[in-house]
Amino acid sequence: MRIKTFALTLMALAIGSVAMAQGDIDQRVEELLQKMTLEEKIGQMNQLSGGYQFTEMIREGNVGSILNIVDPVEINAVQRAAVENSRLGIPLLVSRDVIHGFRTIFPIPLGMAATFDPDIVEQGARIAAIEATASGVRWTFSPMLDIARDPRWGRVAEGSGEDTYLDVQMGVAMVKGYQGEDFSDPTSMAACIKHFVGYGAAEGGRDYNTTMISERALRNVYFPAFKACVDAGALTLMTSFNDVDGLPSTGNDWLLRDILREEWGFDGMVVTDWNSSGEMIAHGFAEDLKHATELSINAGVDMDMMSWGFIQHTKSLIEEGKLSMETIDNAVRNILKLKFRLGLFENPYVDVTLARKVAYAPEHLAAAKQCAIESAVLIQNNNNVLPLAKGSTVLVTGPMADAPYDQLGTWAFDGEEQYTVTPLKALAAHFNVINAPTLSYSRDTDTSSFKAAQKAAKKADAIVVCVGEEAILSGEAHSLSNLNLQGAQSQLIAAMRATGKPVVVVVIAGRPLTIERDLAKCDAMLYSFHPGTMGGEALADLIAGEAVPSGKLPMTFLRDAGQAPFYYNHPMTGRPNNGTETLLHDIPLKAGQTSLGCTSYYLDTGYGPLFPFGYGLSYTTFEYANVNLDKYEHNKSDYIHIDFDLTNTGDREATEVVQIYVRDLVGSVVRPVKELKGFMRVTLKPGETKHLMYDLPVSDLAFWNRDMEYVVESGEFQLWVAGDSASGEPINFKVL
Ligand code: NOJ
Repeated sequence: MRIKTFALTLMALAIGSVAMAQGDIDQRVEELLQKMTLEEKIGQMNQLSGGYQFTEMIREGNVGSILNIVDPVEINAVQRAAVENSRLGIPLLVSRDVIHGFRTIFPIPLGMAATFDPDIVEQGARIAAIEATASGVRWTFSPMLDIARDPRWGRVAEGSGEDTYLDVQMGVAMVKGYQGEDFSDPTSMAACIKHFVGYGAAEGGRDYNTTMISERALRNVYFPAFKACVDAGALTLMTSFNDVDGLPSTGNDWLLRDILREEWGFDGMVVTDWNSSGEMIAHGFAEDLKHATELSINAGVDMDMMSWGFIQHTKSLIEEGKLSMETIDNAVRNILKLKFRLGLFENPYVDVTLARKVAYAPEHLAAAKQCAIESAVLIQNNNNVLPLAKGSTVLVTGPMADAPYDQLGTWAFDGEEQYTVTPLKALAAHFNVINAPTLSYSRDTDTSSFKAAQKAAKKADAIVVCVGEEAILSGEAHSLSNLNLQGAQSQLIAAMRATGKPVVVVVIAGRPLTIERDLAKCDAMLYSFHPGTMGGEALADLIAGEAVPSGKLPMTFLRDAGQAPFYYNHPMTGRPNNGTETLLHDIPLKAGQTSLGCTSYYLDTGYGPLFPFGYGLSYTTFEYANVNLDKYEHNKSDYIHIDFDLTNTGDREATEVVQIYVRDLVGSVVRPVKELKGFMRVTLKPGETKHLMYDLPVSDLAFWNRDMEYVVESGEFQLWVAGDSASGEPINFKVL
């Protein structure tokens, strides 16, 4: 871990950690279990949300966990009810959606993924844990590992995008950051990997919608990040709302028992999503709440979030023989084990003065700024209009220029907008800023202020237009079918273009929007996924050239929403792109019906996306040369030694995200056209060349094949070393 914070030191001094061996924990769990009544066991399986009157229930031992309270005084009060007033004094697990920061808000997870920097992501999660645990929150519902290939789905904001390898790296970094090195350290916050599984594949990008994912696709695409996080020690897992092939996850024993427990050896705790047990009634999978409870617990769920079914029906289900005592005991074991692991029995309370002391610590803000810098993607920079000359006069306008709440993004419950630095505020440190307020929010259609802004622009050397999405337009339940800029934002860009001044567009949004028409109306575009508390300073540094963009797209950018889902690593088709596209207007009138020669593309938008996965420009240029593999033929136990030269051919120090892609040319099942297998961030001085090396284990080429075995299949492969998923020349190699 790169940072050792003030907060960490304070906490360690204040309380001290109480690491306990697993054997001791198991013994204490068994001793406690012996003393518990059935009602107390069922109570541990019940999680309630703040806002309900639950103190009496806590005293009676009917609550195991609380979500959504964050005031340390209130948290200590409910803990006191559990520890001092319930019969067995079992502490509560206090939980919260701490998704991209607690007080200091980092970029949304999709933005964090754009950094391709697991270190900064781990650091962000550590900081979130330090700030949240100081309030008494010891369990977060993060990371979200759902692969998302359809930007219409609002929750793309919460994950790492479309690629499995990137998802693994980011997920593991977050788990490590939240949990730290010692679970019982008071700053350790249990991670919850979610949503198991396939939630991001919602048909049509419509939230909560059904999914149809084959077992092979689950294993090759959707499971790996969950498995990697289980291996990294993730303490909890959340089921998902959706069904996969007709089975809602919360009632799917194949997922929760056969895969998670038996195959992967998960020894943590499983919680439902909010009422996802009860929602199996609406799915038409359970008759009523009692039946839903039976299905969930038998499937392998340990704790119920807010369906109230477990607390109401478990006892009678046992009496009727539909649930066994052994199943209940195992669920309660998982819950108690977690509480012992976190040291809650020893340290149930927080020092109520700590939370405010650690929130927004200078080093937290510095890390959030660095993450926001690394997450911004330079999409276009015609004639090197960026960076703008420092000290020049810049007109700043647009609905996201001074939107402190909205730039925090979705699931930023505890970030306080008064601490947010907006672009408008931060640009003033570098430029002579003319503030020209236009649209007051992203959906605003009132263009009456455009004329005044155009007039004011006469005095400016350049214009910065900040557009995008309000925080509420992405995230849960915020799917869209049209991904163009909302309201009159495109008209605003066009109006600024009409002034003849250089136009820099900054997009601050929760998802990849379809920005092709806007690109034609501006000189430069910086794309910043809701960048959090320090987003303004980060963007201002980038615009002024104090920092150089290095972010890369974690999702394919579409020309039109009708192309969704579109992802770079799709399976090879029988009619791949052959470089010829007959577009809509090239088709002669009364053309005869033919399909010969046709390939997989759209008549209107053509074959390609707007920008490929991994794309992102810099203020400099990079040249890849002399890419070599140590040999052509490799054994399955080998490492492929890749070496290459990377040169910074421009005049600024900058960082490049080097990406390594592989294609398995022939498989026992159809394989992806390309797959990311590695990446590295490399910083080079102007003119500098570095000779770089990367060792790729051949075992990383394994996949679930036709016989549903995880193997590397012998044969020919191709490998690319490049700055995005569509560049570079392939090198062939063979696996024996
Ligand atoms: C529902 C969301 O799907 C889940 O991600 C979240 O953690 C829970 N609500 C708790 O707020």
